[in-house]
This record gives sequence, C-alpha cells and structure tokens, in this order.
Amino acid sequence: MGTLLLITLSVFSALIPPSFANNVLVNNPCRSYCGNITVSYPFALQSGCGHPGFRDLLFCMNDVLMFHISSGSYRVVEIDYAYQSVTLHEPYLSTCDTLVLGGKGNGFAVEQWRSPYFNPTADNVFMLIGCSAQSSLFQGFPGKHLPCRNVSGMGCEDYYGCPAWSLAGRGQMGTMFGSGPPECCAVAFEAIKAINLSKLDCEGYSSAYSLAPLRVDGPSEWSYGIRVKYSVQGNDEFCRACEATGGTCGYGSDGIRQLCMCGHMNSTSNCDSVTSATNRRTWDRLVTQRVTAIFMCILAWI
Ligand SMILES: *[C@@H]1O[C@H](CO)[C@@H](O)[C@H](O)[C@H]1NC(C)=O
Ligand SMILES: *[C@@H]1O[C@H](CO)[C@@H](O)[C@H](O)[C@H]1NC(C)=O
Ligand SMILES: *[C@@H]1O[C@H](CO)[C@@H](O)[C@H](O)[C@H]1NC(C)=O
Ligand SMILES: *[C@@H]1O[C@H](CO)[C@@H](O)[C@H](O)[C@H]1NC(C)=O
Repeated sequence: MGTLLLITLSVFSALIPPSFANNVLVNNPCRSYCGNITVSYPFALQSGCGHPGFRDLLFCMNDVLMFHISSGSYRVVEIDYAYQSVTLHEPYLSTCDTLVLGGKGNGFAVEQWRSPYFNPTADNVFMLIGCSAQSSLFQGFPGKHLPCRNVSGMGCEDYYGCPAWSLAGRGQMGTMFGSGPPECCAVAFEAIKAINLSKLDCEGYSSAYSLAPLRVDGPSEWSYGIRVKYSVQGNDEFCRACEATGGTCGYGSDGIRQLCMCGHMNSTSNCDSVTSATNRRTWDRLVTQRVTAIFMCILAWI
C-alpha cells in the first residue's frame, strides 16, 4: 500500500511543469522600494521595467521618491495601487499654514505623450492665488462666467479662513469691495487642463483633496497635495497575461513596445510562449522518461 502511495506521488510530481515551479519562486526583478514606498507595475525605477507610459518618471533620491514631469519635480507621498492614484507634494505648494507666492510653484502639467496616463482626480481642487486681471482665467468665458467654483466642497471662500492668509496680510477683503479679480480662484483640473502659473499669470497655487467620503470640516482638515489618477489606458491585458505565466512586465529599448521578461528570455507575448518555444521538446522528453521509469517500477513491483 505504501509503495502504491509513493508511486502515485511520483506520478504527480513528474507531471508538475518545471517552469511553473521555477516561476513561483523567482523574484520580480522590477519591483523595488524607495523609502517605505513600494514601486511596482506600471511604475518602475529601472529603465525597461513597468509600462512604457510611465518610463523616465520616478527617481529615488536618498529614500525620497520623486515624480518628474514637464511642469517639474514632486515628492511622491503615496502610491495607491488599489485606487490607481498617486499623491504628490512640492515645497512651493501653498497650504493652510503658508502661502508661497512669487510664481515659483510647479502647478501641474504633463507632456503631451504622457497625458493619457495621468489626470488629477475629479475631487482634487486647484486654488490659483494672485492671478492678474489679464489672466486667461478671467478672459473669454462666454457670458463672463468665471471658471472659479467649488470642487468637491472645497473652494476659496473656505480657504481664506486659513491662518496662511492672515499671516500674509492678504485675503478676499481687498477685492471683495473692489473691482479686481478674486485673490483666489478654485478650479478643477478638467476645466483648464494644465496648471501653469506663468501661463496663467498667477503668483501661487494650492491644491487639496478629500479622501473621506464625508465632508471634512474646514480647510485646516483638507489634505494638501496633488492627487493624480493614473491609468494604463485599458491595455493591461498584455501585463496580466505576462504575470499570469510568471513573467515581469517591461518594455523594449524603443520605449514603446511592451515586453514580458521571463527570467533568461524576453517574450513579446507571455512566458508560456517562451516555454513552448524553447523548453517544449526537453520538457516532453523529460515527461516521457519519467512516465517510462514509473511504469518500469510498477512492472517490477507487480
Ligand atoms: C512612510 O514613512 C513616512 C515618514 O518617513 C511616514 O510618514 C509614512 O506614514 C510612512 N508610510 C507608510 C505607508 O508606512
Ligand atoms: C529583456 O529586456 C530588458 C528590458 O528591456 C533588458 O534589460 C534585458 O537585458 C533583456 N533580456 C534579454 C535576455 O534580452
Ligand atoms: C508654461 O507656460 C510657459 C509660458 O507660456 C511656457 O514657456 C512653459 O513651457 C509652460 N510650461 C509647461 C510645463 O507647459
Ligand atoms: C463654495 O462653498 C461655500 C460654502 O462652503 C459658499 O459660501 C460659496 O458661495 C461657494 N462658492 C461658489 C463659487 O460656489
């Protein structure tokens, strides 16, 4: 009886594909860490890893993860893989405690080729500060409807209540009774597509988002930073198929074509095709040998 069990076990172990056993144990060569942030698909720190739309984007400096796009560099506060969002911060972004003027802020704008992959979330408010009356913000809107509005319950009326405004000796009072443009104008990214302080002729900006589904009380409770939604634009099948066969997703040296890294080989589809192309014959021979050996054992035992 014991021998029979042994035979059954060896039959099973002989039939487990060796590639499966190897792939499960192999580490993902593209996953890495920067400080305590995990960098994983579609992001990557090494060139050739991740999705091509996310190439030359993240850099790790002294355990600080930096996000680099055409408008400037930002510190990555968090990457939320479940909600596909990344939270950014930069020193010239005004908060509830400080107003940073002088037009030094990055704002937010991405390269044309990258723009399909990144969009500030719909509940992220950009508050533009000290924009001139000549700013395109206040021109050319049909019926003179200013684009300034509240986004997700956050807007300038509440933001004026922050200590930063009284510290800077500014506020809406000056313009409330005057005829100039508002000192602060809150917009959704969708409305203007690029937050470029020099182009918009603004002195500074703030950005805030609310994570809680319920309304938070007052601007001191808002989270300051830029919350960006990322997406691989629906072409995730390639990577899913690659990972399902034990591969790691990357791209070729052209920076466009996706690749599936299968240990010692790169595939333009997934690792099953690599296995079948290179290992099918040795694998078949291996199975034949083992099955023959098992049959010999059974015969000998009988
Ligand atoms: C990562 O570290 C920073 C401080 O270095 C801390 O504020 C943050 O909460 C940490 N995040 C996680 C997910 O542990
Ligand atoms: C596979 O592709 C990666 C990324 O382009 C590259 O770094 C690596 O050298 C390639 N490996 C082989 C075996 O061609
Ligand atoms: C911002 O606008 C200025 C002036 O129009 C322009 O020179 C610059 O390239 C723009 N920056 C970005 C990141 O688009
Ligand atoms: C924004 O909301 C505040 C109250 O939170 C309100 O007083 C203000 O009128 C709103 N502003 C706009 C432009 O709708």
